[in-house]
Amino acid sequence: MTPSQAYEQLTATIRDISMLDSIGSFMSWDEHTYMPPKGTDHRANQQTLIARMSHEQFTSPRVGELIQAVEQSDLIQDPESDAAANVRELRRSYDRARKLPTSLVEELTRTAVMSQSAWATAKGKSDYATFEPWLDKTLQLKRQEAQCIGYQSNPYDALLDAFEPGETAAGIQQVFQPLRQRLVELIGRIGNSARTAPMEVLERTFPAAIQEKLSREAAAASGFDFQAGRLDVTVHPFCQNIGPGDTRITTRYDEHFFSDSFFSTIHETGHALYEQGLPKEKHFGLPIAEAVSLGIHESQSRMWENFVGRGGAFWKYFFPRTQQAFGDVMKDISPDQWLFAINDVRPSLIRTESDETTYNLHVMLRFEIEQAMLLDEIKAHDNPAAWNERMKNYLGVSPPDDAQGCLQDIHWSMGAIGYFPTYSLGNLYAAQFFEQARKDLGDLDGMFEKGEFLPLLGWLREKIHIHGKRYTAKQLIKRVTGSELSAEPLVRHLEKNAKAFYGV
Ligand code: CO
Repeated sequence: MTPSQAYEQLTATIRDISMLDSIGSFMSWDEHTYMPPKGTDHRANQQTLIARMSHEQFTSPRVGELIQAVEQSDLIQDPESDAAANVRELRRSYDRARKLPTSLVEELTRTAVMSQSAWATAKGKSDYATFEPWLDKTLQLKRQEAQCIGYQSNPYDALLDAFEPGETAAGIQQVFQPLRQRLVELIGRIGNSARTAPMEVLERTFPAAIQEKLSREAAAASGFDFQAGRLDVTVHPFCQNIGPGDTRITTRYDEHFFSDSFFSTIHETGHALYEQGLPKEKHFGLPIAEAVSLGIHESQSRMWENFVGRGGAFWKYFFPRTQQAFGDVMKDISPDQWLFAINDVRPSLIRTESDETTYNLHVMLRFEIEQAMLLDEIKAHDNPAAWNERMKNYLGVSPPDDAQGCLQDIHWSMGAIGYFPTYSLGNLYAAQFFEQARKDLGDLDGMFEKGEFLPLLGWLREKIHIHGKRYTAKQLIKRVTGSELSAEPLVRHLEKNAKAFYGV
């Protein structure tokens, strides 16, 4: 067999596996949108079958042989070629999948199901003791997983790598450390400002049907292709990629709080624009048609949500439309009041409801605690105390109970340790990409004021989307912006807003 034939066979096999996975994605979308409640058990069986077939096919020795045959050939001489990038990434995930014994995978899966259920009960009653033994067990299994995967100095790196390939705890710490200090300081200054945002303007009655119309208008203006996607309603908004020509997003409508739905929709639109921009028509199922990492994915959603959607230029275009759509409800609201309210900064207890500035402190706290728990420096038993102490130090607030404290997120119960930092990486990447887009495209604000968002989308397509996984996250940021990831662009952005809205 020639190397070219091996590559052909390899890509054909991977496409088949991806086809199975995409059937799973479609079932998952249905499960969260329209599936009747009594369909749950059958759906779980369907999903398990798909997951098992996909895993078995991918980890077969044959796939390993094909990868090796291509690796030993000159097909991968140019490290940026399709074949080299595909094989590099397939090797990475193949090794990872093969290193985990089936017994451990099963134990992790079983524990995650039980643990999530214990977590839901614990959160409902705000009773940490119900969840503690499951967190302890999860940590033990995750330590085993890290041992199987292997790492240089910190077991956390082995887990983080599943979500943010190539990133390390030390690398993240290097960016988080200076960021934390400056955020704590900035939030303190904002807290002392005499100005407060007129939140009441967002809390009037906004009929869901009108919110939906505006959400669709904003998504379409940003370039979301409704012929290749849908917008539906769910409890927790998400973006589900299904395949070429099919990327679906969801949102929820709160008739008494405008921001929740609108910015969730813009956020998910950002994820969807990335998915719609990946070269799937040509390379379906292969790494070069897939997102780089969770951090890069989140950078796309956060850029549209925060850097575009909460900006003055966007609202110069969109405020008159919004005001007109809601009629009398908004007639006494000025654009300045509106803009201040959607950029409100105030320390709060819940990460998912927090603003752009305080958000990253919520993430850092989780990053520190989960790392310390994995290293057994903080016991599962001491998680609530560690949590509450950091909330006080970083944000100056104290959770009244664990439901609003260390039990608020589902991640640890699912075994997703190493996931949280990707949220802040997303903010950091977004800020750095957006500064570069401004440099490259000139008067972005002038374009946004006229409702022209496609030049930005075109730039993202060319610089980020069309490359799929061709470059790693570190290579990509360097290539696009000329620099390594830094906290500076995000701090500049947040400080500029603090000055504009709070005068500090
Ligand atoms: Co997101």
